[in-house]
Amino acid sequence: MLTGLDNLHVHADAQSLARAAAERVLSLAGHNVEAAGRFTIALAGGQTPRQLYALLASREYRDLTDWSRWHVFFGDERCVPQDHADSNYRMAREALLDHVPIPRGQVHPMVERPEDPDAAARDYEALLRREVEAQDGVPVLDLVLLGLGPDGHIASLFPGTSILAERARLVAPVYVERLASWRVSLTYPMLDAARHLLLLVAGEAKEGVLAGLREADTPTGYPVQGLAPQGAIEWQVDRAAAGMGPPT
Ligand code: 6PG
Repeated sequence: MLTGLDNLHVHADAQSLARAAAERVLSLAGHNVEAAGRFTIALAGGQTPRQLYALLASREYRDLTDWSRWHVFFGDERCVPQDHADSNYRMAREALLDHVPIPRGQVHPMVERPEDPDAAARDYEALLRREVEAQDGVPVLDLVLLGLGPDGHIASLFPGTSILAERARLVAPVYVERLASWRVSLTYPMLDAARHLLLLVAGEAKEGVLAGLREADTPTGYPVQGLAPQGAIEWQVDRAAAGMGPPT
């Protein structure tokens, strides 16, 4: 269980948060390429990560990394066709992947079979086991990006869903009642094994969750608190989410 907010960085607004996150991602990419010749990253959906992707693809940043060494995965996905407006893959493609030279075979969308969430999850777990080196039986991604919902969800680990109790599968299907939709998500064991978790949190809607976590010696019921990272965890947040009011 997470207690408190280790390694918290507060920025004036969502744009400066995205810049700091871009610099962190590029630095971690450089470090992992140097150490292992490749960089494995899981992308998140949501508005805050989208700003980061757009920056990484911008003229200012896009020449600062060796994209040919990137291997791109996803933390969660909605069970929709890949060109659907709700698809995280489509969002990541439009904001980043279509604009940088990552070899096609190194980009791994999560849901190839939206009509069968269980099969999609099994396929993706098999793919992760093939593509990513494991420690103690669990593939270890270099970096997992995570957004945070106002209900404390990360990836598609939503409050009250059975996936929160999943310990055997590394990728699982989840039906989210509130959204009346199926999703596929990495589970806690896969997230916890990552070398680095980078949480991107912007906007006052998240203030309550961060305030709850900051004081947390007791369970809050927020799914994010169920993380037990074996690697590093880092929070990049803006002032509004941190409860410090509007940008100064
Ligand atoms: C998704 C996500 C989800 C998201 C959060 C935060 O597919 O919706 O991966 O976990 O990251 O809901 O989203 P915002 O950054 O838009 O608030």
